[in-house]
Amino acid sequence: MSNKKTIRDVDVRGKRVFVRVDFNVPLDDGRITDDRRIREALPTIVELRRQGARVILASHLGRPDGKVVSGLRLDPVAGRLSELLGAPVRKLPDCVGPEVARAVAEMRDGDVVLLENLRFHPEEEANDEQFARALASVADVYVNDAFGTAHRAHASTVGITRFLPAVAGLLMEKELVYLSRILEDPRRPFVAILGGKKVSDKIGVIRNLLTRADMLLIGGAMSYTFLRAKGLNVGASLCEEDKLDLARSLMDDAAGRRIAFRLPDDVVVADRFAEDAAHRVVAVGAIPQGWMGMDIGPQTATAYADVIARAGTVMWNGPMGVFEFPAFADGTRAVAEAMAGSKAVTIVGGGDSAAAVQQMGLADRMTHISTGGGASLEFLEGKELPGVAALLDR
Ligand code: 3PG
Repeated sequence: MSNKKTIRDVDVRGKRVFVRVDFNVPLDDGRITDDRRIREALPTIVELRRQGARVILASHLGRPDGKVVSGLRLDPVAGRLSELLGAPVRKLPDCVGPEVARAVAEMRDGDVVLLENLRFHPEEEANDEQFARALASVADVYVNDAFGTAHRAHASTVGITRFLPAVAGLLMEKELVYLSRILEDPRRPFVAILGGKKVSDKIGVIRNLLTRADMLLIGGAMSYTFLRAKGLNVGASLCEEDKLDLARSLMDDAAGRRIAFRLPDDVVVADRFAEDAAHRVVAVGAIPQGWMGMDIGPQTATAYADVIARAGTVMWNGPMGVFEFPAFADGTRAVAEAMAGSKAVTIVGGGDSAAAVQQMGLADRMTHISTGGGASLEFLEGKELPGVAALLDR
């Protein structure tokens, strides 16, 4: 549970409140293709306005590497936020400097401005002290609502907290409450479903979950590394040959702890990595030479769905297959539907699995979908997130 102060613990009436949000949303030709991170930040912004604060929003967008990249300006975000809020959101041309100071001085209670992309300045990612001081100089209070960026120790997430009283926003609080509950006090049985490409991305999470979950269900390309480690032939499937010993040791650890560690029994294989590739279902021991696994098979999907139906808590991170291609989306859909239909507490880690649930129209039926990709993974690894650690304790 979170022991951090939140916006409920501070008086913000008439104050200038610097709110770090994570508006790092996907863009296609300047159009926002998924505005979930903006919508999830609304409760904090609405509450601050209701209390008469002057709201100064700041975010990064993409990875401009300390330079101005015109395609990564925050204007489309300001436009979308303004529509969602039903109030004007003035987008400022920079995030520090005299123009920002002037614009903030003109703000009235309840006004909202959005600073320009923080990462146009190299000092942001360097967690530069002078830059952090400059960001803080226009505000009285600091709020971090950017859970998705809380694993980064940057000027706007950590450095700035040296200069202002720093508290969590409502989204940050919600993320911490749901994610810590599954680690500290999950309703049992606690089933963790892990997919995605690489075992190497998930080692820390698997290790931590082996001490907390009752069962791990594995899917996605990383299953082939585990299957190969068990001596099976995986054909041309993605496989991390240098991680076979590690995969074996994780499975041994699970066995030693009597944690069920389930791998697919059948898979959908394709003759090449393409949307229209020839494909068929085979048992995991029978992947033909030159063919690659693209999804869990129907028998595995049914077995995983049965486990989900009987779970008390389900945490899912990483798709079961190449769900971007309709022919290989069934496994991911089966897991998402089973979670949507289950009475369990259902938590979806950010990133690809969140996108899949969204795309399948099942988002409203989950207990919580994290807005953090890397941040939720690091949290589930049991790491302290620097952006959280820097906030005032209750
Ligand atoms: C994310 O999308 O995971 C966050 O916004 C952090 O972005 P970053 O990986 O570029 O730091």
